[in-house]
Amino acid sequence: MLDKPFIILKYAKSIDNYIGQKNKSIWLTNNFSKRLVHKWRSEVDAILVGSGTVLSDNPKLTTRFNFGSNPLRVVLDSQLKLGVNNYVFNNEAKTIVFTKKNNIHPKTKNETKYVVPNNWTLEEMMFSLHSQGIRSIIIEGGQKILNSFVANDLWDEARILTAKKELFVGLKAPELNCEPIKEFKILTDTLQIYSNPKSIR
Ligand SMILES: NC(=O)c1ccc[n+]([C@@H]2O[C@H](COP(=O)([O-])OP(=O)(O)OC[C@H]3O[C@@H](n4cnc5c(N)ncnc54)[C@H](OP(=O)(O)O)[C@@H]3O)[C@@H](O)[C@H]2O)c1
Repeated sequence: MLDKPFIILKYAKSIDNYIGQKNKSIWLTNNFSKRLVHKWRSEVDAILVGSGTVLSDNPKLTTRFNFGSNPLRVVLDSQLKLGVNNYVFNNEAKTIVFTKKNNIHPKTKNETKYVVPNNWTLEEMMFSLHSQGIRSIIIEGGQKILNSFVANDLWDEARILTAKKELFVGLKAPELNCEPIKEFKILTDTLQIYSNPKSIR
């Protein structure tokens, strides 16, 4: 597939390899990493998350801890479970919701656009975003979404932050089955960059 954005997987994990715990919002990395992530957001056209992350973390998905414009927010919510109290629908940035439901969401407002793909595949959603001018996208989670992109081999780069914290139990981090090409320390955190060897770019 050629007409897709450049896809960057991004997640933070504990030193014992968990990205979080079910129905809990847990912050793993330090404030320097947080600012770096917001800088990354300002450098791409879009950020994507699944409905599970919106329900558990209620993220804003903006660049507020750095400079730069907010990218488009993309949410996968096939059943339209999310509502007006979720920050992804505030007016700080535009939002696209991929859904299987044909009716317009009654509870949301502002600049939210609903797209019903013909086939519920990540490839089709990436193609749709590309056709709307999106050339780069960060996939910010959660576990199911990241695993789906990895299972479909639909990623070009991955940026993984490992914090010093241990969680002992929780949602396992995705496995990329390749080695990092770069590694940096961000005080207590470690940043590893992966390049997908199967990416055709
Ligand atoms: N450490 C980190 O970097 C990080 C980042 C983000 C989130 N998290 C954590 O991850 C957890 C949430 O992860 P999660 O796995 O429960 O939810 P998720 O991956 O955010 O969302 C999963 C949901 O997205 C929808 N979906 C639609 N199409 C999908 C597809 N092709 N593949 C996968 N999902 C699809 C499904 O809901 P519908 O069927 O209703 O559409 C699915 O249940 C939270 O604990 C959160 O704190 C951690």
